[in-house]
Amino acid sequence: MTLMKDLFQNADWKTEKHVPAIDLPLQASKDGTFEIIVTVGRQIPHPNTSAHHIAYIEVYFLPQGEKFPYQAARCEFPAHGASTQGADTSGVYSLPEARVKIKTEKPGTVVACAYCNIHGLWENSAVLTIG
Ligand SMILES: [Fe+2]
Repeated sequence: MTLMKDLFQNADWKTEKHVPAIDLPLQASKDGTFEIIVTVGRQIPHPNTSAHHIAYIEVYFLPQGEKFPYQAARCEFPAHGASTQGADTSGVYSLPEARVKIKTEKPGTVVACAYCNIHGLWENSAVLTIG
């Protein structure tokens, strides 16, 4: 049996263009929210064409000590240059970056995954501390 967890790839986002880079604030905003920024291709740009692009980013939060994650966001990137004239003719492209706010009083782990239409699923995680 093939499990979803076996399909995810991981690496250092600084050397592998598919890995989502995750930025977390050091502490919550005054309203108790945390802004999570997830970017694919920050150090090494990923192609963004009709034939090769990042289709979506998903963001999850797993509170420390808990078993089940909470999905915080799913961001689709549907514009990849296609138009009625064909591939890469519109000049309009979605960029694979997601800004997500969560409100929590619990520390935990932010997990992000990105899907490339050619190179599959990639993941990364970062620890959210409560200061
Ligand atoms: Fe790719």
